[in-house]
Amino acid sequence: MGEAYDLSILNQDLEVARLARQAHSSFSHELPVLAAAGLRSGMSVVDIGSGSGHFTAQLATLAHPANVVGIEKEDAMVRVARSLPHLGNLDFVLADALSAQPRPEFDFVFCRLVVNNTPEPKTLLAKMVGYARPGGLICVSDIDDGTVVMHPSPPTVEHVNTLFLDFFRRQGGDRHVGRRLREMLTHAGALDVKTHVIAVDTQTWGRDVFLGRISTRTRRLVKAGMISEGDAALAEAEAARWIEDDSSYGCLTKFIVVGRSPH
Ligand SMILES: C[S@@+](CC[C@H](N)C(=O)[O-])C[C@H]1O[C@@H](n2cnc3c(N)ncnc32)[C@H](O)[C@@H]1O
Repeated sequence: MGEAYDLSILNQDLEVARLARQAHSSFSHELPVLAAAGLRSGMSVVDIGSGSGHFTAQLATLAHPANVVGIEKEDAMVRVARSLPHLGNLDFVLADALSAQPRPEFDFVFCRLVVNNTPEPKTLLAKMVGYARPGGLICVSDIDDGTVVMHPSPPTVEHVNTLFLDFFRRQGGDRHVGRRLREMLTHAGALDVKTHVIAVDTQTWGRDVFLGRISTRTRRLVKAGMISEGDAALAEAEAARWIEDDSSYGCLTKFIVVGRSPH
């Protein structure tokens, strides 16, 4: 089994830029849900799989003056994250959360867009529960590609997306994880687990962010020998036309699941 999230085959600068753009365009609709779920100023936070750190930095602004720690296993990402401006309450640790020995010290344990690409989601969620202090909150945010609607439907892009779902599953990931998060966090031991869903569409999110992953997907499928360079170019050109087309419309659902520490 490979890695569903494989930074080594991505252009790192482009991936950092994609994560930054994706995080920035998400603040306005995701942060209010986190606040409604209980995230407050003065709560210590750990963000598992913090990536480029852009979302973590927003959490640090919300949680200030308490400390926020990002845990990230890719050195290149940690270096970018450490260079971001902050209010003095943000730190990043280079570590694999799957092999960490968590201490129950955080008020808010967070993980965004990681569970879908980890081959060991149960272990990851158990570690999250382990990081929460007694009474602390555990919050998992992820996607579910089964909720994606694109109109008009671009046939080659849809074909690439279908192949990618299968490829991703074989790499140990699950692009349909959103619907399973509540069940998974409950099984990990969290109490009172509630699901918040956020519908985002091309009006609120923009078209390019909506289709930002297509070239990542085509690159990976070409490398795996599942599509040709010609198919990749066709899908990328189709995606570019869809993005430019004022009449095109897309929407998807994000899932944010929150539970309480059982300790
Ligand atoms: C798609 S990115 C999301 C980054 C960030 N959470 C965000 O929302 O922008 C997933 C990140 O999780 C990291 N990651 C995956 N598994 C991890 C693990 N076991 N421990 C630490 N980081 C992990 C990856 O290296 C990657 O940077």
